[in-house]
Amino acid sequence: MNKIDLDDSKTLRDIDKANMLAALDGFSGQCREAAEIGRAAGEKFAIDVTRLNKIVVLGMGGSGISGDILKVLLAGSAPIPVIVNKNYTLPEYVDNKSLVIAVSYSGNTEETLEATRAAHARGAALLALSSGGKLAELAAQQGLFRVAIPGGLQPRAALGYLSLPLLTMLHGIGLAKEFSDDIKELVTMLDKKEREWGVDSPISNNISKQLALDLYEKVPIVFGAAGLSGVAALRWKCQFNENGKTPCFWNQLPELDHNEIMGWERHNNFSRTFHLITLRDNREHARITRRFTVTGDLIKDSFIGRSEFSAEGGSELTRLFSLAHLSDFASAYLALLKGIDPTPVDRIELLKSKLAGMK
Ligand code: F6R
Repeated sequence: MNKIDLDDSKTLRDIDKANMLAALDGFSGQCREAAEIGRAAGEKFAIDVTRLNKIVVLGMGGSGISGDILKVLLAGSAPIPVIVNKNYTLPEYVDNKSLVIAVSYSGNTEETLEATRAAHARGAALLALSSGGKLAELAAQQGLFRVAIPGGLQPRAALGYLSLPLLTMLHGIGLAKEFSDDIKELVTMLDKKEREWGVDSPISNNISKQLALDLYEKVPIVFGAAGLSGVAALRWKCQFNENGKTPCFWNQLPELDHNEIMGWERHNNFSRTFHLITLRDNREHARITRRFTVTGDLIKDSFIGRSEFSAEGGSELTRLFSLAHLSDFASAYLALLKGIDPTPVDRIELLKSKLAGMK
């Protein structure tokens, strides 16, 4: 296959028919707007939080990861736990002391809808976050509080709309700390990264294009650590799958030291396939730092290449997005390098339509 020149921005824009590059370019603005949507929602959401003992986030794929992000970002301050539920069914403990947040960008994801109906039947306090769809209809019919976000994007390109309103809305109702300084820092970082990693920034200065070139015809294996860089690693995996149309696998320390390292011990026949990516955070636990070094040394011969990226910024929010956003660009460039439009997810659409026809 002929590789496309990643410095030929006109050709890249031609291949990018559904405008993923424009969505990436607008991501900092999306985050700013999203934070405001949540702040306004927090003022209107009348809820007695004293009755609540948990927050349960329902959602799948590009919407569901907002629950993982919320869980990490609230871990250090929220008075009650955040539980992420990516399934049709709910654990028994979801009850009328639960705030259940149903997140679906399209509003039409069947797992999220079924779990939302079940949560409503159990008397949970409900909040729906969507751009429309059946979730919006359900919210209107049942009188559920809904936070409306702009449509027209792929869910995975709407991560700002899907995650930041949760932070600012939960702060508004007294269940999360104040995030406004963190959001300012985030937007400044994203503006800078959009210039560094954008389509007009040449390969020589653009680590996201360099990474796409390194990953051409390779399988990325992405390791983070439980918490912030682990969620970023999950985002990398999903973005390389959906934008990059490539297999990609992720895991996190310390757990992977107790199993996965064995999987890399004796498979040298395929080692030319895999490229290891480690995601680091300068506030990671001291033993995690040690583990990255020792683990990396033990498994290094199983990979044809290796890259490491470190989170930037002061707040957890900025650090998490600084890692996650790199995969948004690199995965889009990987598709473009192969001459593929990063946006369409035909197989996901096909699967959803096949399932819809099977009652
Ligand atoms: C597509 C994407 C998918 C969807 C998932 C759930 O860009 O990211 O992972 O997010 O299929 O759909 P929604 O987000 O509409 O509930």
